[in-house]
Amino acid sequence: PRLPAGLPWVGQGLEYRKDPLGFFLRYADRGAVVRTRFVGTDIYLLNTSEAIEHVLVKNFRNYPKDAFQKRALEAVVGHGLFTSHGDFWMRRRRMMQPAFHKNLLTAHGSVAVKAASTWMASRREGASFDAYPEMMALTLDVVAETLFGANLSAQARELGRAMEAVMLHAQHLFDTPISLPAWVPTLGQRRFRAGLRALHAVVDDVVERRRRQGGPGEDLLGLMLEAQAEDGEHLTDAQLRDECLTLMIAGHETTATALALSLYLLARHPDAQAALRRELATVLGGREPTVADLPSLPYCEQVVKESLRLYPPAWGMSRVAEQDDRMDGVLVPAGTVVAWSQWALHRDASHFPEPEAFRPERWADGLERRIPRFAYCPFGGGPRLCIGAGSALMVIRLVLATVLQRIHFEAEPGPAPEVLPAITLRPKNGIPLVARRVSRQ
Ligand code: HEM
Repeated sequence: PRLPAGLPWVGQGLEYRKDPLGFFLRYADRGAVVRTRFVGTDIYLLNTSEAIEHVLVKNFRNYPKDAFQKRALEAVVGHGLFTSHGDFWMRRRRMMQPAFHKNLLTAHGSVAVKAASTWMASRREGASFDAYPEMMALTLDVVAETLFGANLSAQARELGRAMEAVMLHAQHLFDTPISLPAWVPTLGQRRFRAGLRALHAVVDDVVERRRRQGGPGEDLLGLMLEAQAEDGEHLTDAQLRDECLTLMIAGHETTATALALSLYLLARHPDAQAALRRELATVLGGREPTVADLPSLPYCEQVVKESLRLYPPAWGMSRVAEQDDRMDGVLVPAGTVVAWSQWALHRDASHFPEPEAFRPERWADGLERRIPRFAYCPFGGGPRLCIGAGSALMVIRLVLATVLQRIHFEAEPGPAPEVLPAITLRPKNGIPLVARRVSRQ
């Protein structure tokens, strides 16, 4: 179906801008492919697993990332793994993939447990705190150590501010199809440039130190430096920096949002929190978890899956058709942008009865195998499945398993926290929680 034309030229653009999450939800049951027009571009909304599978898997080569995303993200991380397509993308992916190999993920696990224990030690009994910035600091520590073998805690504040400025500008580029040229010194541009300079300075420093340190590449940076030294792939220093920045930005805020909202959901559902704590007590008996314990903690996994269902940090995705294509009987002309939203897909009552309810148990008995492939896709899918998915899932589960054994979380009664569908989903006004020590029996 085609939606009513909306305003001349702008089309549905304004309706979308007012409430992007509501927009996708509103049109979710209008058919597999819903044709809309935004500010001079045809955008087709995809509402079924089959349509998304067509784009991400079956006709993958025809669907690179679209100009909206590229414009916003290339300004920050250049032309690299996240923004490229085709052979270029494939070579980068092959080069970076080994850093996410299972054996190395075990090392990521112990870094996460250490970071969670340090964080716990700083809690004051009964004190309220905002889980969002706290989890941002925690995941920055994890990302810095696992990717770069570096400790960036001392620069956390400066990095946080720089990342905020850079992402605000990327969001602006994403939202406004026409903006002033980059050389016009608006306040936003100046803040963006200063933020980017600060990020570059930190990453350049990390790369330089890692290069001097030498040795085999256990962390991602080590592996990339090795690849750079070999003949197969020549990354310039600027390209290497951009790839490091890509991973830092892609991995840090998303994981923090998932953790903060998991803590919030557990705080609001004391039964689920108690069930998780019982599982942890039975399996771990008070000791720190390791990666090897994860298969024995199914409820912990269900909690994380359910939290990523309700609050998918990557709340929407899009691509552009390079050549004419056909989907569900609908012609998709070359140049059409196709878009879908995990926020809406994950609220489809035919796969998730009472979709707004937090019910980790729904994932028991292999729900994931019973629903269509892309009915649940917090990490995207196909060849471009999130490269950090395994690491993120492990880090989130291990952090929860570490802190929930010792800390009971409470939330104020009231409506759910507002979330902002920026480039990633993020809490609008933080996640206020209270931490209490769990009394030992
Ligand atoms: C790609 C989600 C954590 C690095 C993606 C995509 C999604 C996603 C949906 C696909 C985007 C697309 O194809 O348009 C998430 C979520 C995370 C998370 C929800 C945490 C809960 C991480 C971590 C890292 C990372 C920890 C790195 C350490 C990347 C990279 C890509 C990517 C580099 C691009 C891969 C490619 O195009 O080949 N992520 N991510 N992500 N993610 Fe993640």
